[in-house]
Amino acid sequence: MLNKTYLVTAGPTHEQIDPVRYIGNYSSGKMGFAIAERLAELGAKVILVAGPVSIETQNPSILRVDVISADQMFEKCHAYFPTCDGAIMVAAVADYKPVHFSPEKMKRSDEILTLSLCPNPDIAASLGQIKRKDQVLVGFALETANDEKKAMLKLQKKNLDLIVLNSLGDHQAGFKFDTNKVTILDQSGVVFTSELKLKSEIAIDIVNKIIETQQSRVGMF
Ligand code: C5P
Repeated sequence: MLNKTYLVTAGPTHEQIDPVRYIGNYSSGKMGFAIAERLAELGAKVILVAGPVSIETQNPSILRVDVISADQMFEKCHAYFPTCDGAIMVAAVADYKPVHFSPEKMKRSDEILTLSLCPNPDIAASLGQIKRKDQVLVGFALETANDEKKAMLKLQKKNLDLIVLNSLGDHQAGFKFDTNKVTILDQSGVVFTSELKLKSEIAIDIVNKIIETQQSRVGMF
């Protein structure tokens, strides 16, 4: 029985342009949901902050908090993180949002349209700044080149304990697919590499690594 509480983020965020349009991405939420299910199966309390996805949670013990935008996800994560033993940031948060929301549907014209965008808050990095020593923070990285080096820089920049790297170059891995292939790194380098397998199986590997990381710290503080 895993007597701990975890925050998991999953899915994309949608950044509204006008009442009928948004900026989004192809994240299905499957990997984050699989991790939430695995943690719940082991008896952990799970708070799943989910962007707009079309999948359901299976385990009734999961507390699902639905959000649309990165700002909403930021707010919910900060509300729940202090009560958690760890956070697993799987969501594909939009990097940018429109500077202005148009309350009226924008009209078509023959002119070139320029949309001004401003950066969204980095939720994982902001949790990394307030993380306590007893909390574990896990991020994801989706890269297309120089993968491990970039993932390691990301781990350091965001003050993560573990980073899970998906490579877009891997066939059938990453966004939309039911399968994935990952490499897990900690501050010392690569600590785990998986085969291509079901996201539910990858979730078991990731959760095992998280538990191992927390257990190795027992007695350290
Ligand atoms: O910097 P990049 O977007 O590649 O970082 C990916 C990791 O950071 C993922 O764990 C993602 O959930 C998290 N992230 C976040 N808030 C953002 C951007 C990324 O929590 N605005």
